[in-house]
Amino acid sequence: MQLSESVALLSASNQVDILVVENDLAEARISLYGGHTLSYKPKRDHRERLWESQDAVLDGTKAIRGGIPVCWPWFGDHPSKNWPAHGYMRTQQWHVVECVDSETGSVIKLKPEFSVGPGFDGNADLTLTVSVGNELSVQLTTKNVGAQSFEFGGALHSYFNIEDISQTQLHGLTGDFLDKTENYARKVTPEAYRFHGETDNIHLSTESVLTIRTPGFSIDIESLGQDSIVVWNPWIEKSQSMTDMPDYGYQFMLCVESAITQGVTLAVNEQHTLTQVIK
Ligand code: BG6
Repeated sequence: MQLSESVALLSASNQVDILVVENDLAEARISLYGGHTLSYKPKRDHRERLWESQDAVLDGTKAIRGGIPVCWPWFGDHPSKNWPAHGYMRTQQWHVVECVDSETGSVIKLKPEFSVGPGFDGNADLTLTVSVGNELSVQLTTKNVGAQSFEFGGALHSYFNIEDISQTQLHGLTGDFLDKTENYARKVTPEAYRFHGETDNIHLSTESVLTIRTPGFSIDIESLGQDSIVVWNPWIEKSQSMTDMPDYGYQFMLCVESAITQGVTLAVNEQHTLTQVIK
């Protein structure tokens, strides 16, 4: 079904519904399950920016491995209960509320079926705005439409498509980070940020302009509204233990996540937007 000149909805039985975007500037694919952007390829260089696991589960029974999972209303494990890691939005059905084409690309607004779930009882209105043009912009807006303030966290948990993790470098981060693989030990960001093993780092960072340099090309990433940048690569053992990731998959992906790990409190009628722009 065509939703606009550049956006079509593809439905297949037992598969998640996919929005296929193709305009003069770029191509993209967005799954309505999870409000999950799977692919983005600008036409100026035809290079895929996002990594999607070839073993990703695409039948709507599990969060999709790769692309840009939307994590909300908390980041990582829930602090007190055994509720799903990264919240419940990445496994929820979203629907299109607006789809507009213009000279600068296609803008698609999505909303989830509901925002209340186990572990969060705030009254939130959520909108995900995906703009596909010369750059990809993903914005998650949380508005407090209830009668009480609430706190939330989350992330745009982007998986970037890289050439070779051992020859890839991340630029733009300085200061301290918390190393989740070593019980949140505080460490100093190395000047040359390279990858030699499992990486799960929370940079409590307001730095918002980063670049991934990988053989043959670079990806620029801008963030707004985050309190942290999370850098994740599971490396070989974890890849082997994950059923939705090929054993060697870690060599070709790097997660650089615009995240709220410390929590944002919204008063009644207040709103917050978490943005990641990929160039
Ligand atoms: C990262 C976390 O954001 O996501 C890691 O910091 C976690 O600890 C990773 O392993 C993947 O999470 P999941 O739930 O998609 O397997």
